[in-house]
Amino acid sequence: MKPGDFNLADPDTFEAGPPSDYYAVLRREAPVHWNPPPESDPPSDPDDPIAIRRGFYALTKHADIVHVSCNPEIFSARVGSNLLSDPDDEPLEAMQSMLLNMDPPDHVKYRRIFQRGFTRRMVAKLEPKIRAHAERVVDGIAHKGECDFVRDLAIELPLILICELMGVPERDRGKIFEWSNALCGFDDPEMLESREAQMRAAAEVQEYSTQLAAQKRAHPDDTLISKYVHSEVNGQAITDFQLNNFFILLCVAGSETTRNATTHGMRLLCEHPEQRELLLSDLERHLPGAIEEILRFSPPVMVVRRTAMEDTEIRGVQIEMGDKLGLYYGAANRDEEVFEDPERFDITRSSNPHLTSGIGEHYCLGANLARMQLHCIFAEVLTRFPDMRVSAPPRRQRSALFDGIKEMRVRYTPEPA
Ligand code: HEM
Repeated sequence: MKPGDFNLADPDTFEAGPPSDYYAVLRREAPVHWNPPPESDPPSDPDDPIAIRRGFYALTKHADIVHVSCNPEIFSARVGSNLLSDPDDEPLEAMQSMLLNMDPPDHVKYRRIFQRGFTRRMVAKLEPKIRAHAERVVDGIAHKGECDFVRDLAIELPLILICELMGVPERDRGKIFEWSNALCGFDDPEMLESREAQMRAAAEVQEYSTQLAAQKRAHPDDTLISKYVHSEVNGQAITDFQLNNFFILLCVAGSETTRNATTHGMRLLCEHPEQRELLLSDLERHLPGAIEEILRFSPPVMVVRRTAMEDTEIRGVQIEMGDKLGLYYGAANRDEEVFEDPERFDITRSSNPHLTSGIGEHYCLGANLARMQLHCIFAEVLTRFPDMRVSAPPRRQRSALFDGIKEMRVRYTPEPA
């Protein structure tokens, strides 16, 4: 196998999961590797010097991804967005009003509005509530003996929490689920019938969040949406447009990722029975390490993109202003220079500086919350169903961005009715 054998922009490259053998080749032979554009991209505009070089450098070394993520003045998340290929003008403008795609100096001003609500201390306060929700979610499958881990279990907790934090009433949770699927299932025909369906979902979310914002303006409370609509940045009130896009970001970032991390967790524990035994032998002691190892081994967000704002150099490779860089978290998480025996799934690692939550300017706002959810759901599932097993090959989402699982059947000894 050699650099160039796979196109990392092609969702089919990830059909059987992230190509860790190919990542290893890239780390070793071409850590700053030019990857051609996704085939779905429109042809380059010959008059636009940047468009001609559409495509991106795939970065696979831990140190390089840290360098790019921690220098947002040089590597922009805003220009062309952090997706692998440039969105059209209208969706691009929407994305640029999301925290994830802002650059300094504005980024931190917006981030500050929410940061306090997501600190370790604030999330610790939510623990009893998250535990109670996790218990109820697991009650829902207790008597079945078999279920779809994704639909019946992994989806529920992140969705309940993100809706509570945003102030979305329980009856509307199903809509949030459908919309976030439509918005990030763009490469999977089973999750999204067409671009039109995606546009329709975006319009529906917009209408919904505008109404919710109007309610929160009239009746302030301590939800994130209320906090946002009552904030000002640079002396300007938050607009409906900004609010709508923040709402979409939270729907997707808050639920899809944690759902996939939960599902990968159960899958990985089943694929590594000796690690699972160890975990079950002392759940309280090993669970925090197991969660970090699950996150390291199978990052739900496989790649984000940046754009160079000036000519620069990485490992001797000349990067020109306007060049794109794909940061492959899953490859960095198995970098031999950082992790001992990186291809081994080991819940007892003493040092685990994985990049699954990003790093630097855009470090995941919900990282503490996601970990708390993973802790509560695994404590509940593994205590009550220590024999839960994956009973059919998991069905993966078709995507070059997200490592998602759509369906994963599991069997376990049910609790007596
Ligand atoms: C295991 C679950 C999660 C994973 C793997 C994950 C992953 C990430 C990654 C990789 C980034 C940085 C992207 C970049 O640098 O371009 C990020 C940012 C972000 N995440 Fe998460 N996330 C998770 C859960 C959550 C949750 C539960 C929430 C919300 C409640 C959330 C909200 C956000 C937000 C708002 C940002 C943007 C932060 C910024 O730009 O300053 N995430 N996440």
